[in-house]
Amino acid sequence: MSAAPRDLLDLAVDVARAAGRLIVDERPPGLEVASTKSSATDIVTEMDQRSEQLIVDLITAARPDDGFLGEEGADRAGSSGVTWVVDPIDGTVNYLYGIPAYAVSVAARVGDELVAGVVVNPVSNEVWSAVLGEGAWLDGRRLQLAEPPALEMALIATGFGYDPRRRTRQAELLQVVLPLVRDVRRAGAASLDLCAVACGRVDGYYEQGLQPWDLAAGGLVAREAGAVVTGLRGAEPGAAMVVAGRPPLVAALLGLLEGLDADADPIG
Ligand code: IPD
Repeated sequence: MSAAPRDLLDLAVDVARAAGRLIVDERPPGLEVASTKSSATDIVTEMDQRSEQLIVDLITAARPDDGFLGEEGADRAGSSGVTWVVDPIDGTVNYLYGIPAYAVSVAARVGDELVAGVVVNPVSNEVWSAVLGEGAWLDGRRLQLAEPPALEMALIATGFGYDPRRRTRQAELLQVVLPLVRDVRRAGAASLDLCAVACGRVDGYYEQGLQPWDLAAGGLVAREAGAVVTGLRGAEPGAAMVVAGRPPLVAALLGLLEGLDADADPIG
């Protein structure tokens, strides 16, 4: 079976759109929290579970031997070498409150390499997609980032985790960052933050505590649009820290965040 990145992207787009329609069209009135995860504020709704199930079912029907890594527990090794990294609703708190900033995020990994990814905002109907080495697109329009402004004129996105100790540290960092930049945005969905970097709606982004499904598709979109997506001190982007933006701005953000030891683990 083909593992050509373009074919994987086409499937990812189809299933992410289908999951996006599901979570908008079949959202029950009076949607409630079904369960919690790492903390009382880290929530799951029945629609997160249904969305992930739909994505797994559709991909498995097309490609029975692929593996999965999903936010709501889809975890299967697979035998084809392709693993799908899935966030069935990124921005679940926004979804619960009806704030139209949530997304379905689906990425395909071949071995250890992310080769294709899609982020769908099912309310705005925007589709960000990327193929490794081939580019990134918003609704089919190729994305190519322009030169960023200096740090003091930059609009910076960030996010907060669910653990109170992490949030305390994130608030301390924000106190330093906020006076040094144009302004800060906290949209509530990491995949959309990374796509916002990719299409110039913000200039840069940083966050500690992301999981692979928060980062996979949006990170590839940002990179393929010309952003650097990195951790601190040359580390890979991941749970310790993700910083994204065009190179000169990222250098300034890295200098600031490294000086603050922003990748130190506040949870231990
Ligand atoms: C969360 C969102 C949020 C980010 C958190 C993520 P979820 O994902 O992306 O913006 O700040 O770190 O956990 O829980 O809504 O899928």
